[in-house]
Amino acid sequence: MTDTKLKKYFSEFTLENSDVKDNKTVINYLETGGIQVPRYINEFWTSKQRQSNSLHEISYRACYKAELPNFFITLLSKPGNIIYDPFSGRGTTIIEAALLNRNIIANDINPLSTILSKPRLFIPSLDDIEARLNKIKFSSGLKAEINLSMFYHPKTESEIVSLRNYLIRKKKNEEEDFIDSWIRMVATNRLTGHSKNFFSVYTLPPNQAITQERQKRINKLRKQVPAYKDVKYIILKKTRDLTSRMDIKLIVQLKKIGIKAKFLNEDARFTSNIKKNSVQLTVTSPPFLDIVNYVEDNWLRCWFNNINAKLVTQNITITKSLEDWERVIGEVLVELYRITKRDGYVAFEVGEIRKGKIKLDERVVPLGINAGFNCLGIVINLQKFTKTANIWGVSNNTFGTNSNRIVLFKKNDF
Ligand SMILES: C[S@@+](CC[C@H](N)C(=O)[O-])C[C@H]1O[C@@H](n2cnc3c(N)ncnc32)[C@H](O)[C@@H]1O
Repeated sequence: MTDTKLKKYFSEFTLENSDVKDNKTVINYLETGGIQVPRYINEFWTSKQRQSNSLHEISYRACYKAELPNFFITLLSKPGNIIYDPFSGRGTTIIEAALLNRNIIANDINPLSTILSKPRLFIPSLDDIEARLNKIKFSSGLKAEINLSMFYHPKTESEIVSLRNYLIRKKKNEEEDFIDSWIRMVATNRLTGHSKNFFSVYTLPPNQAITQERQKRINKLRKQVPAYKDVKYIILKKTRDLTSRMDIKLIVQLKKIGIKAKFLNEDARFTSNIKKNSVQLTVTSPPFLDIVNYVEDNWLRCWFNNINAKLVTQNITITKSLEDWERVIGEVLVELYRITKRDGYVAFEVGEIRKGKIKLDERVVPLGINAGFNCLGIVINLQKFTKTANIWGVSNNTFGTNSNRIVLFKKNDF
């Protein structure tokens, strides 16, 4: 799409369901270092109300909804193009890209990201999963080396430890196959949560950090003790839910894309494994100052997967000041410029901090321009408040709604 067409496309958007001025897209301009950048405000993707595929339903701190990458992938790429996310998290961008028949590269410094996303490209049959679970020896009386009694009934704990031991053994012997990886992914996601379909007693939703001490307090307050949960049953149930909108054609498509895909666990600034001028579109949201410690928050998921959370935390970007954040993001954008194809795009999603006083989108614009990109504009998607939209722990309400702010860059042909 030419830049002029794209600008026309954004400015012609009409609002179906919002209280923004005159039922029309609001465009205003941001002056940044003498360059005027248009801001398009609209309900760009929620108005379509396109329900995303249930394959996305894996929770992760600060994940965005699949409608966001869907919007940019559909608009700015074609089947077969490479779509990249340098801060992939649960893999929302790359899973959506694969569902749209694009090739993918995922990167995240947190190894849990690969554990949670890669298996969803290689979907086993329910029968295979059931047969595998039936083969695993679920012993009784096993206890974790850490105290998990505030989360689990002793029998459930023993089943979790049995499964963990099995997966450790398989990995050590390099025998883990796609069925084991699927089971690992689902079990990791089912460790704790707020419904009966998790292994734990009632606790915070699985994308929120919960310590052992805090769980003891929750149990006391709710006068609850962990009841027995059937680990095998829960894994099969979640598998059914995740795959409820998959058909054989889509399963084959994902597998083909999965075989060609790259899953990296690098610092997003240094991804020498990705070829220059190769990526059509990056859709991403970066770590956000020091609000979320993605690894330590996931201590229980790390324990289950035998990952040393402390070691990973050393590498993760936890910036204490805005200046530090800008330096890191500036370097990431330089790397994105290197790997982006001529005429390719970067859609960079950020939030607002300190009650909207610091608009990170405005900070990102000059960083991208310095890296060599042309900034096509800031796309602000207004939507009614939802939990997923607010998991930054940041309130960015405008007109009684939340907003996603996406800075759109293009690597222009010279
Ligand atoms: C806001 S989350 C991304 C969530 C993702 N959009 C999703 O929908 O799941 C930011 C991610 O950046 C990762 N991260 C933090 N520092 C990093 C770095 N220096 N390089 C690569 N990934 C990093 C974190 O592990 C976290 O998964």
